[in-house]
Amino acid sequence: MPGTCVIGLQWGDEAKGKLVDILTGNHDIVVRYQGGANAGHTVVSAGQTWKLSLIPSGILRDGVACVITGGVVLDPARVIEEIDGLESRGVRVAGKLQISDRAHVVFPWHIAEDRLLDGSLSGGGAIGTTGRGIGPCYRDKVGRALAIRLGDLYRDDFRARLGHVVDFKNRLLSGWQAAGTPPLDADAIHAQYAGYAERLRSCVADTTAYLLDAVEDGKRVLFEGAQGALLDIDHGTFPFVTSSNSSGVGVASGSGVPGRWVDRVIGVVKAYSTRVGGGPLPTEQDNAVGQHLRERGREYGTVTMRPRRCGWFDAVAARYTARLSGVDELAVMLLDVLGGLDELRICTAYEIDGRRVTQFPSHVTDLARAVPVYESLPGWQDDLTTVRDHAALPAAARRYLERIGELLGRPVSIVSVGPDRDQTMFCESSTTRRPSWPRPQPRAPATA
Ligand code: GDP
Ligand code: IMO
Ligand code: MG
Repeated sequence: MPGTCVIGLQWGDEAKGKLVDILTGNHDIVVRYQGGANAGHTVVSAGQTWKLSLIPSGILRDGVACVITGGVVLDPARVIEEIDGLESRGVRVAGKLQISDRAHVVFPWHIAEDRLLDGSLSGGGAIGTTGRGIGPCYRDKVGRALAIRLGDLYRDDFRARLGHVVDFKNRLLSGWQAAGTPPLDADAIHAQYAGYAERLRSCVADTTAYLLDAVEDGKRVLFEGAQGALLDIDHGTFPFVTSSNSSGVGVASGSGVPGRWVDRVIGVVKAYSTRVGGGPLPTEQDNAVGQHLRERGREYGTVTMRPRRCGWFDAVAARYTARLSGVDELAVMLLDVLGGLDELRICTAYEIDGRRVTQFPSHVTDLARAVPVYESLPGWQDDLTTVRDHAALPAAARRYLERIGELLGRPVSIVSVGPDRDQTMFCESSTTRRPSWPRPQPRAPATA
């Protein structure tokens, strides 16, 4: 069977882009199937750094088709900017990229709504969105009445439809915006988006049909998850999440390719935890350890440049998302960043109101009260960035990786020790493709 997926198991920025770029060599097609320009995926190769947002990280290799499916919310200005940026640096995009006509389009009102609404959660605490209009665009998709898909831009009734939506949005926004804010101008937006549509015309396709033909013809497809499973709209730390299914459960709905075509799910984790934006991060270290991780790991957001919150590896959270995403094997990234710490900690359980739990809480207020229970492991002082062989890692680093594998119940098959393509090693256990998954722990019977 031909499909591989790469899924972030934490709160995003697990270095999925690096991994996808590496795996692209063994695939025919790379697919982005959810999220939008909130993603920032970095690939470093031969001293050059590439930051990809909507375009699949597979674009940097020749001979690979890249697809943005209908599950993505598409800001045409951003995708055109990205295409131009890549082509100006010698990366061919034309003829390699297809974008679904089903993708919902991000308009200026989505970005305005995103900025107006973030911070308005009752009980305080902003989500801290990327401001890219993601939530409002998905909201209009689900609401249907005010949604516009990429394919609609090529229809005769586009101007009329746009006028209807702009009228509605102007009435909604006028109640929220500061006095004197000019209303949306339907003619100007029409001219702008008609221009985008012309630019993208040759890329627009029915990607669902294309991908179904591809998998049935035995093509090897790589699905590039965006965000991380703990930001999943249904299964993450709601409401501090993104607006799409960013765990493994989103692959089929976002791409239109049934899960039966995916036979390898790689769960990507950082060797520690980070989060950007609001919401609980139980293992957060607002101290010298957090500072070490932020500076060594250059933990500043790719999209918004915000400093990322940093903490110890949370095995309770990652075990939950590994199970949720049907993960077969693990890629542990940024292991080098832990070098120089005498002691390392892994969270193996939470104490919530005096009770010890290993099941990830479904309600965010329980997670916010969770006190991590840590296991301590020895650190190492060595610089790992030049190590290329798992056997050459210091014993403490090997033990740390082994412990992550044990706690998550999956083998660690890939280890990364630096941003470059070359700073990656494949472990023997990568041949272990189907581990026997751990049984869920029985729940304690409720006591009266
Ligand atoms: P993504 O959103 O999951 O693709 O991840 P990002 O690109 O937002 O963030 C990962 C960051 O870590 C990027 O700056 C990468 O260049 C960098 N990176 C990737 N792998 C490693 C690694 O093993 N070690 C270090 N030090 N940095 C890495
Ligand atoms: P990649 O693909 C990390 C976070 C935002 C915010 C929340 C909601 O690079 O891993 P949104 O703009 O989606 O409505 O914001 O989700 N977020 C990410 N955090 N990496 C990402 O993508 C993210 N995409 C969204 O910071 O907390
Ligand atoms: Mg990122």
